[in-house]
Amino acid sequence: MKGLILSGGTGSRLRPLTFTNAKQLIPVANKPVLFRVIESMRDAGITDIGIVVGSTAEKIKDAVGRGGRWDVNIAYIPQDAPLGLAHAVKISQDFIGDDRFVMFLGDNVIQGGISPLISQFAGSDWNSQIVLTRIEDPRQYGVAELGDDGRIIRLVEKPKNPPSDLALVGIYMFDQNIFKAVNAITPSWRGELEITDAIQWLVQNEYAVHPYIHRGWWIDTGKREDMLDANDLVLEELDYEIEGYVDRDSQVGRRVTVQRGAEIINSVVRGPAIIGENTRIVNSYIGPFTSIDHDCLVENSEIEHSMVLENSVIKDIDARIQDSLIGRNVSITCSPIRPKAHKLMLGDNSQVGIL
Ligand code: TTP
Repeated sequence: MKGLILSGGTGSRLRPLTFTNAKQLIPVANKPVLFRVIESMRDAGITDIGIVVGSTAEKIKDAVGRGGRWDVNIAYIPQDAPLGLAHAVKISQDFIGDDRFVMFLGDNVIQGGISPLISQFAGSDWNSQIVLTRIEDPRQYGVAELGDDGRIIRLVEKPKNPPSDLALVGIYMFDQNIFKAVNAITPSWRGELEITDAIQWLVQNEYAVHPYIHRGWWIDTGKREDMLDANDLVLEELDYEIEGYVDRDSQVGRRVTVQRGAEIINSVVRGPAIIGENTRIVNSYIGPFTSIDHDCLVENSEIEHSMVLENSVIKDIDARIQDSLIGRNVSITCSPIRPKAHKLMLGDNSQVGIL
């Protein structure tokens, strides 16, 4: 089997972070979501992986390379414009050749990996396997209606009146017949070739599409809250390890990872949390569900339930920072220069909540 990871798209809901980086490269518990996807494919025994890339192609290529780090071969498939998930499949036909394949959205995080799913599909004669999960309000997703016998009756994309609470998770398995489907469908009202329509085409034309109901968690990291949720869930499952330095005046909880070269000085870190390589935490409080990426400084400040990306500085901030997603190379400091005021330089579409 081959693997196909979709990492094009615009990531508009994660601006301003996605003005300068690909959303698939935003780290959850200090590791880019895309790396987690590659690892889950590798763990399922897949070594030939194609990544569909769009306007952030160079960033993705720089970060991922040819896959040697994971012992896999990575090919890049350029998509001129984000014309939909089924369009991404269409342009990947040469890469896929005659193989069966698994397609994974590059911004999705799933509990428990995909190995059981892959082996189930590889050993079956199904034409496709889709993954469904129960969601309270599935109106933003592709939704499946199943019959009493558990078979798929139909699939609808973002329905106003969902026929069930079973949403399509961003993992799909296909054989060759999906190419007939993506060539047969037409763009939806939003101008995209929808994968839901392509799968519905398979169902209608009596190909075997098997639904798998996933019972663990699954997060589509499209928005800030989703990123923080994914970070919470992944932090809870880390293998905690102290590789950096913790001084005698600090208290570091049991569920905390301190990566190589990091220093915790006169501070309290409550887990689950991760402190990245060469980051310094000085006279500060780091609360539960916080990831501080590499080469950051947090000094005389308090932060919890937040993500801070590489090379950022938080210094001398009185009020606790929480529920925040802070980008790369950000500086949040207390300015001694009068007048006493908040002095901000924020990217387009930033959101700041001030006390
Ligand atoms: P989406 O989150 O649906 O789209 P997006 O990345 O454009 O984000 P936004 O809605 O915030 O603007 O995409 C899901 C995944 O699929 C994501 O990893 C990007 C990828 N994708 C492609 O590779 N090609 C496409 O044509 C589309 C629509 C998405």
